[in-house]
Amino acid sequence: MRRSVITAAAAAALAAGSVALHAQNAPAPARPAKIDLDAWPVPDVSTVADTPEGRLIKRGHELVTQTYAHIGPEAADPAKRYAGNNLACQSCHLQAGTQPFAMPYTGVWAVFPQYRARENEVSTLEERVNGCMERSMNGRPLPLDSVEMKAMLGYMKWASAAVPVGASVAGAGTKPIKEPNRPADPERGARVYAEVCASCHGDDGQGVRNGTKGDRLGYQFPPLWGPDSYNDGAGMYRLLTAAAFVKHNMPLGTTHDRPAIGDEDAYDVAAFINSRPRPHKANLDKDFPDRLKKPADMPFPPFADDHPADQHKFGPFDPIRRSLKDLSDKAAGKN
Ligand code: HEC
Ligand code: HEC
Repeated sequence: MRRSVITAAAAAALAAGSVALHAQNAPAPARPAKIDLDAWPVPDVSTVADTPEGRLIKRGHELVTQTYAHIGPEAADPAKRYAGNNLACQSCHLQAGTQPFAMPYTGVWAVFPQYRARENEVSTLEERVNGCMERSMNGRPLPLDSVEMKAMLGYMKWASAAVPVGASVAGAGTKPIKEPNRPADPERGARVYAEVCASCHGDDGQGVRNGTKGDRLGYQFPPLWGPDSYNDGAGMYRLLTAAAFVKHNMPLGTTHDRPAIGDEDAYDVAAFINSRPRPHKANLDKDFPDRLKKPADMPFPPFADDHPADQHKFGPFDPIRRSLKDLSDKAAGKN
């Protein structure tokens, strides 16, 4: 889904560019570059120069890897406690946002501003960061002119440096699972969890802290539910996003080309972790104002189709997609 957004944006940018260029009789623009993050060098932050810009990049790196220490709920300065949990951005954006198919930051600089269905408008990269601040981090938005926002963006720009605008990036976002044609089964997922996940994330899902509560050291193994986890408005709360992330990145050390668990296990364990209690985000009924663009696995009403909320939460999702397509075709005056 996300990849088609890039392609559409790239196509639009190219179309606009070619109109302008042709008007000046310049050669048509080259095809958009294709980049594969598996073969892409991981930028090394220790090589960044000690200049004002370099220091901003390093600060951004520190903010995404040790978010809890600087803007978490235990941060020394109460005014800086923007995040509501002790996760780091890196808890999900693995390897400081460089791991393919773990929603990498590599390349994001080149694809924003970007149309987003959740808001039904074009969002900036700052708004996207704040989407994760309010949802994944269960907190409040960072001011746009704050040094923290500037530093994180500076880091993402640096991590994206060699990716040309309009490039299609293999490894961006998440890699979808092959969806089983049945509702996900949280009870079966609980068994997968006990076997494969609990050794790190804990039998109770509360993870393992690096130190003790209040010391701003975050987690060795982050919690997957409960009060210090992402809220129910987060991308990770959607079944297919969580299943895609888990299958291709967990247990820690797994890469997308060598998954450790199968599609069925990823589907069910995602349903299990997202059936456990977690913080609630207010106003979720306002997300995806164009209901026809609401993803099939967004479990909060109102819905454009007649499928029950439970099916939006647990699947199967293909019948929902078919209903949405029929409704869109009708709205567009087809058939
Ligand atoms: C070997 C230890 C280990 C195992 C086993 C493991 N994880 Fe993780 N998991 C981690 C670590 C560490 C992170 C955070 C990465 C970081 O901070 O760099 C993480 C992050 C996550 C996240 C995103 C962050 C969050 O708090 O929500 C999810 C979701 C997740 N794991 C789910 C699972 C599931 C489901 C399984 C079982 C299929 C699993 N993990 C197995 C170590 C593990
Ligand atoms: C609990 C997991 C989690 C945490 C923690 C998290 N994010 Fe995210 N983030 C996601 C997921 C999942 C997506 C993509 C799906 C979506 O659109 O919601 C995403 C998307 C993004 C994107 C857009 C990426 C793209 O390819 O379009 C940016 C930028 C981003 N996050 C920044 C951050 C920052 C900065 C932090 C820390 C302040 C953070 N995120 C913390 C899960 C997380």
